[in-house]
Amino acid sequence: MKNVIILGASGNIAKHVIDILVKKDDINLTLFLRNKNRLRNNDVSKCRIVEGDVLNINQLKEAINGQDIVYANLSGDLEAMAKNIVKAMNETGVKKIIFISSIGIYDVPVKLVLKPYRKAADVIEASNLEYTILRPTWFINADEVDYETTRKGEPEKGSVISQKSLATLITKIIGSPENYIRENLGVNKPNS
Ligand SMILES: NC(=O)c1ccc[n+]([C@@H]2O[C@H](COP(=O)([O-])OP(=O)(O)OC[C@H]3O[C@@H](n4cnc5c(N)ncnc54)[C@H](OP(=O)(O)O)[C@@H]3O)[C@@H](O)[C@H]2O)c1
Repeated sequence: MKNVIILGASGNIAKHVIDILVKKDDINLTLFLRNKNRLRNNDVSKCRIVEGDVLNINQLKEAINGQDIVYANLSGDLEAMAKNIVKAMNETGVKKIIFISSIGIYDVPVKLVLKPYRKAADVIEASNLEYTILRPTWFINADEVDYETTRKGEPEKGSVISQKSLATLITKIIGSPENYIRENLGVNKPNS
């Protein structure tokens, strides 16, 4: 069994990821979120639900302890959150993190709204963790799985990505984390 924790489990993309992961028999899923009433999934009966704040290092450490994979689906003060996550993972010996950032964080100059996403990515990259950072384009609600990735340093492509596509990629990484170690990937719908 693989122990997976989702930080920010009430988020849009997390909802799709949860729907995919609850159907898998080899995943023990922990949902970490500030308010469990904000969960929008129909079936979370097999999940462990932990109410907590990523900015509270003790709550975070306790929840991360014993996990194999941390998937961070957060918004807000992302730099402070990334620092706490790295600290909690270092102190509990958990290595694998998937962190959702954004397209445009390596643009010069970087847009003000994207600065927290860039800073968070810098914090994760500076760690010794086995990270996968994802930089998706803008979300659409289309019921489709159609995506491509670009590596760091390559020009980012496309303008949109379906939430379902991003969730599918995230669950693929959770399934084979060894294929995505210390990767920082742009994600977009081809020809969008
Ligand atoms: N929308 C787009 O087109 C787009 C494009 C590229 C990247 N992104 C980024 O991709 C990421 C994922 O997107 P999304 O739509 O799934 O995000 P989202 O729906 O805004 O989810 C973020 C989650 O973070 C949680 N959160 C915030 N502060 C927290 C804290 N201190 N402790 C615990 N949880 C906390 C929120 O929970 P609460 O319910 O407690 O508030 C929320 O559920 C976001 O950073 C988003 O900005 C979005």
